[in-house]
Amino acid sequence: MRRIIPAISLLLASTACTTTGVAVAPETREPTMIAPILTTPDALDASTYAKPQEARVTHVALDLALDFGAKRVGGTAALDILAAPNASEVILDALGLEILRVTDGKGRELGWRMGASEGEKGAPLTIDLVDAAGARTDHVEIQYRAGADAEALQWLRPEQTAGKVHPYLFSQGQAILNRSWIPTQDSPGIRQTWEARITAPKPLDVVMSGIIQGEPEDLGDGRRAFRFVMDKPVAPYLIAIAAGDIDFAPVGSRTGVWAEPATLARARAEVGDTEEMVEAAEALYGPYRWGRYDMIVLPPAFPYGGMENPVMTFLTPTFIAGDRSNNGLVAHELAHSWSGNLVTNAVWGDSWLNEGVTSYFENRIVEAVYGSKRAKQEVALDYMAILETLDEVGRDAPGTALHQPDGTESAGSAIIYNKGAAFLRTLEKETGRERFDAWLRQWFDKHAFQPATSDMIYADLKANLAGSDAEAERLKLKEWIYYPGLPDNVATPDPAAFATVDAASAAYAKDGIRPAGWETWTSAERQRFLKNLPRKLDAAELAQLDDRLGLSASGNNEELFLWLELAMANRYQPAVPQVEKFLGHVGRTKFVRPLFQALWNQGDWGRPIAKRIYAETRETYHSVTQGAVDRLMAKE
Ligand code: BES
Ligand code: ZN
Repeated sequence: MRRIIPAISLLLASTACTTTGVAVAPETREPTMIAPILTTPDALDASTYAKPQEARVTHVALDLALDFGAKRVGGTAALDILAAPNASEVILDALGLEILRVTDGKGRELGWRMGASEGEKGAPLTIDLVDAAGARTDHVEIQYRAGADAEALQWLRPEQTAGKVHPYLFSQGQAILNRSWIPTQDSPGIRQTWEARITAPKPLDVVMSGIIQGEPEDLGDGRRAFRFVMDKPVAPYLIAIAAGDIDFAPVGSRTGVWAEPATLARARAEVGDTEEMVEAAEALYGPYRWGRYDMIVLPPAFPYGGMENPVMTFLTPTFIAGDRSNNGLVAHELAHSWSGNLVTNAVWGDSWLNEGVTSYFENRIVEAVYGSKRAKQEVALDYMAILETLDEVGRDAPGTALHQPDGTESAGSAIIYNKGAAFLRTLEKETGRERFDAWLRQWFDKHAFQPATSDMIYADLKANLAGSDAEAERLKLKEWIYYPGLPDNVATPDPAAFATVDAASAAYAKDGIRPAGWETWTSAERQRFLKNLPRKLDAAELAQLDDRLGLSASGNNEELFLWLELAMANRYQPAVPQVEKFLGHVGRTKFVRPLFQALWNQGDWGRPIAKRIYAETRETYHSVTQGAVDRLMAKE
């Protein structure tokens, strides 16, 4: 009699394998490292069609050509599947993919069906694991093309690059965009190893979020092939690609930066502390487990400040200020090598596990590398943002809880990032740095290369940090993770952090005295002053401020942005051309959306300006930024 093994124990049984230090040859078919999947109800990802308990992807092998003329990617995706004995099909996520043919890799056709598409979730792509003759396979090969408007991908015209000569391509997978160019199970709890062969026209170089294998192969037809391997199981949103006229400059022995030739020197100078940051991070929470840590500074259309793609952080060029003052960004993306990439939120409603833990970790790196004054100032700015959000949406709004159950939407990044970090900072203060650091380190070690949920961290904190129910109560663990608002044991920022600036702000509010020490202030201090300014200012006042503080000439985009936002909120006509110029080349959602919002809020004055600018700039933005601006303009 055949013993029936439940799918679950089958999947978990096969995970008894090492997760680090094993080099996987690209041609290896056997999945050697499979991280377990979680099956508790809180780990069910509503944004995937996959049924990983029945059949799950363990390895993805891509063989793709980049077609800059058609702005399309196409080729094959070969997937290794781990299936329960009775599973007859595997379900993948697909968004706008054009499927041409599916085989078992030995020439036998496999049946497949594309289901109905549901908005950004896309459609289920179901593939039969049993062929017409009844033979089973654990390997499927999909010939396909990504859609011409694949949401993850942005194809830049040469004018959108610094060099202005060659086109450029980059991808942004988080959260659920990678299904627009890779047919796989696009869920953060379903980790996969991967490899890729990518061909691109000369002289473009290709980088990915995996380790490059040797020199590119010249194909003799004006194209070259690049090979990459990621031998550690990663969440599929972390597969990323960029291609363009780019060069590399080393920073340290395992760190370096890619950028367009015209940007490379400035980029290299700005990220000069990266090796030191990696060392600081390792000293805090254990070894960096990914081998190299490289970065790429993309063209300004990139929709985020940074994206933690493994071994290849993607960065906006707008963080370059010339004085490393925005390098918290690099610390942040680096910290994700532990919180996010090593231990990953199983569902997007727990993204505080990625972003909140990372924001805390980021600040510890900043403290180690740049000192506690700067670290404390950044904490104080973050704290102010939490209070602003709570004031705006109310302290009992469900969106202000860290854990967002299915169907609720977070009140924004001040909650997921800043409240998340404030939680850990509170625990640090209450339990002592040494104990807290030991706890966080064991959390990373214990869950390395695995998904995690709020329930898991709650249980772990109770058992391994609090140690008793009474202590868990005292720390208000449950309240912090599951309830809206801000628990009253929150560690508040050092009131001295901005003493100088806040005195200057008060003097300005009272007597209109513009600050004297501006030139010597840190960027955080300047940002604090700009945020403290009265929200209503007249044109004469704005002109004087600009004249005195040189705001519109700022080389720091965070400061420039705060100035432009304030100017638009006050209908300050002289700043409109600069806003137009800024929005004409910067695609970073964090800047673009609020600038359009500030204009939009100004009804008869601002809306025509916003519409006129957006008509010109929309096509220069990534789908993420387009979506954000489309939504705000759809509101009355
Ligand atoms: N992983 C995020 C970017 C992201 C978040 C993309 C959610 C898609 C969905 C990245 O690490 C990040 O947080 N970037 C910030 C950096 C900042 C907090 C230092 C950004 O882009 O502004
Ligand atoms: Zn982040």
